[in-house]
Amino acid sequence: MSTFRSIEWKKDKLVLLDQRYLPEKTLYLELKTVDEVARAIKEMTVRGAPAIGVAAAYGMVLCVQKLSKNDDLIRELQKADDLLRASRPTAVNLFWALDRMKKIWQGFNGSLEDLKMILEKEAVDIEREDVEINKQIAKNGVELVPFGAKIIHHCNTGSLATVDYGTALGVIRYAHEIGKKIHVFLDETRPRLQGARLSAWEMKELGIPHTIIVDGASGLVMKKFKIDLALVGADRIAANGDTANKIGTYNLAIVAKYHNVPLYVVAPTSTIDLKTPAGQDIPIEERRADEIRCVGNSQVAPQESPVFNPAFDVTPAELISGIITEKGIVYPPFKENLRRLFESA
Ligand code: MRU
Repeated sequence: MSTFRSIEWKKDKLVLLDQRYLPEKTLYLELKTVDEVARAIKEMTVRGAPAIGVAAAYGMVLCVQKLSKNDDLIRELQKADDLLRASRPTAVNLFWALDRMKKIWQGFNGSLEDLKMILEKEAVDIEREDVEINKQIAKNGVELVPFGAKIIHHCNTGSLATVDYGTALGVIRYAHEIGKKIHVFLDETRPRLQGARLSAWEMKELGIPHTIIVDGASGLVMKKFKIDLALVGADRIAANGDTANKIGTYNLAIVAKYHNVPLYVVAPTSTIDLKTPAGQDIPIEERRADEIRCVGNSQVAPQESPVFNPAFDVTPAELISGIITEKGIVYPPFKENLRRLFESA
């Protein structure tokens, strides 16, 4: 268990560790409506693909809890579902979790009280499963981490981005726990600084040796420190293995290829979207210009300068050495092997 909880369900409210203020302030936000949950996802109070999915599931629970017999149940739930789906478009875990909830409420013909109970149970299950899955991912991935490994990591994929333990940072954490004496280089991850603010905070809390670097330093770091592997998370893995993840992952993958550093994507199978054939079909979120023009409260670029701010990029499958999941490590050819992973399930 971590010393903090990114997400906590308390019967009629969702408590989120507000990731916008870390590491300066540890503030918790209590959410009581689906509108508040949708806003928290959009504004990145909660972030990271698996954490967004869990928060959205609880958003549906908060919605149904407010309904009474006279309400048009399906209409209200559909409205909430639409609102949550519109909050962030790239992470498929959001849609995956909402699909799980929808399977229950769509066509439900029991009592409202039963529906409230069953939807709450489903959200609690999604939350609980996330921790178990991450621990299994870590066990599967650790074999790729040599003793004394130097690892490079992008964005934040730890307990903050999930319910607990994390995906890529989960593998790193487990390698540390079993005494592999690793060192992790953390890309700061402009513009929201998830690496510098969040991953570094988690590594410090866990006592894992780490060094923060600017995103542009990855080439030099690979050359100078002989990095063994790169571990990154994912927001959506297309059927052919192309992977959307935090902006800058694609650059890192190109630099890694040049330096013969294997790059592994670490993600639960809920991040694999077989309905999306290839990277070009993944919707990429674009965020506000001020995320780039400003750092904290300081303006660092002219207000008049145009900005292009995609939150994610797509790393082509050919730059990925393997995909570490809770069901095992998938190697190329990804199209065949990802399909097989689901068939075997
Ligand atoms: O915009 P964010 O901070 O939600 O982006 C997060 C990432 O890109 C993570 O790498 C991804 O969601 C995997 S988290 C286990």
